[in-house]
Amino acid sequence: MSLDRNGFLIAVIVFLAAAGLAVGFYFVGTGDPDPAPFRNVPGDPVAGRIALERIGCGSCHAIDGVRVGGGRVGPALNDLRQQRYIAGRLPNTPDNVVRFILDPQGVSPGSAMPDLRVVDAEARNMVAYLYTLGGR
Ligand code: HEC
Repeated sequence: MSLDRNGFLIAVIVFLAAAGLAVGFYFVGTGDPDPAPFRNVPGDPVAGRIALERIGCGSCHAIDGVRVGGGRVGPALNDLRQQRYIAGRLPNTPDNVVRFILDPQGVSPGSAMPDLRVVDAEARNMVAYLYTLGGR
């Protein structure tokens, strides 16, 4: 006994459907495994590290690779890339970190972080550096 033509077609369709589901679940299951998408943001990370040292961000923040400082006034910035929010106020994106550095009081009134009169390009370099830190 062998499968008739319809039986064969049904078997093929069932097989393709199962394969499709398996492939679908594979992609859904793995999804985007990286919750921290900001790996390479515009800016010069080396210049950023130097600026972080020169301006003295380290006097209040622990920042890996920044030799000057290790302060504990503000939070350590080593896992910034993994955070959902910046200063508990803005969704974590490179632009929003820049915004906060340029105007901490404007973003977060009453924040203990002072306005250090960082210029835009410098803030962008700092953010490029900060996003190189952290696991994964
Ligand atoms: C006088 C201390 C002080 C200095 C100097 C300082 N910060 Fe801050 N910073 C803080 C404090 C306190 C907070 C937390 C308060 C807040 O989130 O509003 C903070 C928050 C931050 C955050 C958000 C952190 C988070 O986990 O959401 C970033 C980013 C940041 N600072 C970057 C910088 C950079 C870059 C510099 C140098 C240009 C700098 N800070 C200099 C005190 C400081």
